[in-house]
Amino acid sequence: MPPSLKTTLATIPLDTCVYNASGPRTGSGQALSKIGASSAGAVLAKSATLTSQTGNPLPRTWHHEAEDSHASMNSEGLPNAGIDYYISTETIDEALSDTSNSSSKPYFVSISGKNIAENIAMLEQIHAKIKSGETRIKGVELNLACPNIIGKPIIAYDFDQMESVLEAVSKLPIFAVDKIPLGIKMPPYFDGPHYDRAAAALNKYSHVVKYVASINTVGNCLMIDPVAEMPVIRSKGGFAGLSGRAVKYTALANVKKMRELLVDEIDIVGVGGVYSGQGTSMMDVGDCLR
Ligand code: DHB
Repeated sequence: MPPSLKTTLATIPLDTCVYNASGPRTGSGQALSKIGASSAGAVLAKSATLTSQTGNPLPRTWHHEAEDSHASMNSEGLPNAGIDYYISTETIDEALSDTSNSSSKPYFVSISGKNIAENIAMLEQIHAKIKSGETRIKGVELNLACPNIIGKPIIAYDFDQMESVLEAVSKLPIFAVDKIPLGIKMPPYFDGPHYDRAAAALNKYSHVVKYVASINTVGNCLMIDPVAEMPVIRSKGGFAGLSGRAVKYTALANVKKMRELLVDEIDIVGVGGVYSGQGTSMMDVGDCLR
C-alpha cells in the first residue's frame, strides 16, 4: 500500500500534504480550477488587495532551467482581481469545480493589503462572506512578505510593524470570535536574531496564528540577460523575488528553524524549491509542503 499523504493544517484535514503557493497562476478562477482538479491537498488563491490592480509592467516573470541552475523570478506587483473576486461564490465554484467532492478540498484566501486598514477591510469582507454561509473558505493567509511593491519594504523584516499588524488583526472577530485559522506568509530569514524576533512575535499571537508558511520568495534578487544586457525583469531595476529549486536550501533552513522556535500550536507549511518527492525532506522538519 502506498504511504498515506494525508495531513492536517490548522486542524483542517488535507487529503495530500502538498498544495500550491499563492503566486503566479493563482489569480483567476480558471487558474485555480487546475489546482482544484489536481491532487493538491488544498487550493490557495493569489494574494488579494482591496480592489483589483494590474501589477508591474512586463516582463515580470522569468524561469531558468539548465543542468547547473534552476530558478524562477517574479515581480508581478500583485496583479489581482480584488478580494471580492476571490471570495465570490462563482470563483470558489470554478476553483473547486473539477474536484471529486467540491466541498471537501479546502479553499484558502491570501491577502496582502497596502496597509493595516486595507487588511482589516478585507478581513471584514471575508468574515461577512463566511457569516453569509460560505463554508468552503477554510482559512486566511496574511502575506507579510511581498518583496515586489515599489516603495514598500517587506513587512516581516520590520518587526515593530509586523507586531502592529498582528496586534490589529488578532482582535478581529473573524479570528478572535469565529476562530477562522490565520496563516502568516513569511519571508526567508538568514540570521539567528532575526529568526528569534520573528518567532517571538508569532508566538505572542498563537491564539489566532495557526500556521506559518515559510518561505516567500527570496526578495530583491537580480538576473541579467547576457545577450540583451538588461535585467530579465522590468520593474524595480530588475530586482525581484527568487523561487524555484535555487531556494530549497534557504526554505529548508527556515522551516527547520521555525519549527524549533514556534510553539506547537502553530503548524508550518514548507514553501520553496519543492520539485520532486525528495522535496518532501522538508516534511521531516515541517508539517506540510508547497
Ligand atoms: C507578489 C509576489 C510575492 O512574493 C508575494 O508574496 C505576493 C505578490 C507579486 O509580485 O505579485
